[in-house]
Amino acid sequence: MQITKEQVFVWSRNIRLFHWINVVAILLLIALGSMILHSKTFGIAGDGKVLLKTIHVLVGYVFACNLIFRLIIGFVGKGYERWHKTLPFNSGFKAEFTEFKAGKKQAYKGHNPAGKLMVLALLATMTAQMISGLVIAGTDIYYPPFGHYFAESIAIDKDNLAAIQPYSKENVDEVAYQAMRDIRNPFITAHVYVFYCLLFLIPLHIIGVVIAERREKSALVSAMVNGYKYLPKNNTDEH
Ligand code: HEM
Repeated sequence: MQITKEQVFVWSRNIRLFHWINVVAILLLIALGSMILHSKTFGIAGDGKVLLKTIHVLVGYVFACNLIFRLIIGFVGKGYERWHKTLPFNSGFKAEFTEFKAGKKQAYKGHNPAGKLMVLALLATMTAQMISGLVIAGTDIYYPPFGHYFAESIAIDKDNLAAIQPYSKENVDEVAYQAMRDIRNPFITAHVYVFYCLLFLIPLHIIGVVIAERREKSALVSAMVNGYKYLPKNNTDEH
């Protein structure tokens, strides 16, 4: 049977911009992060490593601002920007999921239930990566938002914070430095493990989109470019 479809606006400009900025930033962060992780193999040390970390942190700021913007519009935005339409916390989600598993519904205006779970997993891991990244940026190359605080905490002469530089012992109180490293350790461990989680989730997300597109045929990928999906006519269901 031929199903008549209509063009339906779903993804706002805010969502689409967030999505593609996020894609570019994460790809760059994964590439730069992998180089930091394997810096010995690449023969990168000293100033080269500091430069690599600095570029990683600068791209990290773009990633963080974009993510914070997305988290805010989840509360104050409109339509499919809002959490009750994007995360699996809406009333009736369980029934929605059962119906999805049984293959009873052909297309979804927003994310299908598996998509909602994936969005939750991605946003949670990205938020954890942002927080751990911002902390280690402060303890490692003394960059904002926590760098000033950490530099002050390890300085012998608090009036000469300019002397506190990555990999330099000048003006550094060894005991306070060790205490700072102890604070840093769990965050760096989290940063590496969450990195591996993202390396698992991102391909899974892409596979999910391919499967959903084959099943729903609603032009999911171009919808993330122009905002419009192709849905069966008279599909009044808002999910
Ligand atoms: C999806 C986002 C991100 C990914 C996939 C990622 C990945 C990585 C990886 C794999 C490393 C190497 C870890 C190691 O050498 O032990 C790393 C290091 C680092 N990341 Fe990220 N990162 C992300 C976001 C951020 C953000 C938002 C910031 C801060 C603005 C940040 C700051 C840092 C710093 C300072 C290091 C160097 C740590 C060190 O080895 O001393 N990262 N990142």
